Order: sequence, then structure tokens, then C-alpha cells
Amino acid sequence: MARPYPGESDPKRLARALMYRRIRKLWIGKPPEGYVITLAGSEAAEIGAIRDYLGWSPHHTIFVDTDKTGLDVVNKSWPLARTHHGKIETVLKDLDGPVAFVNFDFMGSFNETVMSSISAVRSHLVPASIIAYTFSRGHEAEHTPNWDKARVIMKGFLARNPWMTTAVGDENSSTYLEASRFLGYAELIRKAVRKDMRLVYFLRYNRMGVLVLQDTSQLESNRHWKAVFNDLMPEEKTGDVVATSDTKATIKNLIIELFTGEKMTTPQIASFLNLPSLAVRAYRANWTRGAYD
Ligand SMILES: C[S@@+](CC[C@H](N)C(=O)[O-])C[C@H]1O[C@@H](n2cnc3c(N)ncnc32)[C@H](O)[C@@H]1O
Repeated sequence: MARPYPGESDPKRLARALMYRRIRKLWIGKPPEGYVITLAGSEAAEIGAIRDYLGWSPHHTIFVDTDKTGLDVVNKSWPLARTHHGKIETVLKDLDGPVAFVNFDFMGSFNETVMSSISAVRSHLVPASIIAYTFSRGHEAEHTPNWDKARVIMKGFLARNPWMTTAVGDENSSTYLEASRFLGYAELIRKAVRKDMRLVYFLRYNRMGVLVLQDTSQLESNRHWKAVFNDLMPEEKTGDVVATSDTKATIKNLIIELFTGEKMTTPQIASFLNLPSLAVRAYRANWTRGAYD
């Protein structure tokens, strides 16, 4: 049974911001032309990330949801953006143009809805386009076919890389299960779309896992992209659990980095992070007077 979306939280906010930051970097300043499509959730918390951080046109942005709550927020806060009350699979099947980024932020199990949505995006992907998928960890057995496939993929991976066997432990160890989720699901997505979709980012937060795959058909030979990709790989957030206790500190660091590195203003940062401007202003004031030194 589908679990209701619990709504916004600091770990969710942070995971979202880190993912968008990574996507913008992987586009190396030249995003593909096409639609950005996402699931609205209860409060359309990605409006700021899409409109203000990616700078996307509302005419090429589609918020979809089977629940109307978040779509009403879009219609009020960003009325030019497109909304669709219904299934994301339907939107993708009827789409009239390419997709630059689709965020399958289901936060549920890898079930047949996920599979059919991913298959439906296949024909719309263009070079450099990105698919993100967020799943909840720990409910895999409820959707046995895809979980079984993920485990077979994991076994195949270990057969080809036997030196990994000791590192992941036995089949029921948490490391083995985690590797099966991330490697297995990424490979299932890759197979459902096409082979030059590459896993470029993954992240764990709370009980969720995020996978980001990019069409690298024209990027593997691009020296700039390669340099960015190689630089990003050791970055601290890849694969990390954003533990609740660390979240506030990481958000604070991110805000400071956005002020200094990306030179964003308080309202821009507040919008991107879906935080009140007052909160961002307080972080900034504390930082300016050296409270974090
Ligand atoms: C986790 S929320 C999205 C959160 C949002 N992306 C954010 O960053 O805050 C997932 C949403 O997907 C909706 N949903 C689930 N399956 C769907 C489907 N097949 N088509 C459209 N919406 C769906 C749910 O109603 C829920 O509101």
C-alpha cells in the first residue's frame, strides 16, 4: 500500500538542494533544451529549485501529481508553470518534446508504476538529460519482482568483481542490501532507458535513497564534463547519510557556500532551499559576525 508523503523536512530539503546543485554542475553551464518534470508533493517544494536555481522557463516545467494539494500551490505561486492532475506515466506518454530532467521522487518502493514511468521517458531523453529517482529503503520485499532482479544484478556484479565480496559481507548484511538497492536499481533504470545513461550521483537520507543518472552519450568525450565529474566524485556528500543531527550544520554550510561561491541573494537562497527568508538571513548574519568561525 502506498504510504502518504510525510511532507517537507530538513533532510528532504537538504537532499533536494544537494541533488539540484549536482545536476547544475553536471550540465557544465549548458543544460539540454527540454522539459523539467517533477512530482509536486504536498507543497510543490521544488518551485524555487527549478525556477530560481535552474532558471527554467515555466512553459517547460511540468508539476504532476495524483493529489491536487501541491498543484494548487504551483497555480498560485508560479501560475505560468504547467500542472497536470493525474499520473506521471500519462504525462510522459503524451509529451510533445524532449525531457531535460525528470525527477521521479516517488519516495516509495520500486514497483511497476516506477518501471512504467521510466520506460515512458525513454523516447524523450536527449544528450545530457537527467533522471533522478528517490526510493524508500527497507520496503523492498513488498515488490518482489524488481527487488529480485536487483539482487540478481548484485550477484552478477560480485561475480565480475570478486574482490568486493568481503567488503559487502553476506547476503543479508546491511552493506550488501544497500549495495543491491543502489547498484540494482540504477542498473534496472539504465536497462529500461538506454545503455549510455550513467549513474552520476547517489545519496542516502533518512530512510530514502536517491539515484541520479545522466545521458552521457555526448559527454564522455567532453573534457570539461569529465573534469567536473572527476572533481565531484570524491565530494563529501556522495553516498553519505544526511543524518538528522548533521542536517542543520550542513544546511548552514550550504547557505554560506551559496552566498560566497554562487553569489546568490537571501531571497534566491530561501527560495532554492524552500526556507523562510528570515531563516536564511539569520544564518547569514551569524556568519558575517563570525559566529561560525
Ligand atoms: C515524495 S512526493 C514529491 C515531493 C517533491 N518532489 C518535493 O521535492 O517536495 C511524491 C508525490 O508523488 C505523488 N505520486 C505518486 N505516484 C504518482 C504517479 N504515478 N503519478 C503522479 N503522482 C504520483 C504522490 O501523490 C506524492 O505527492
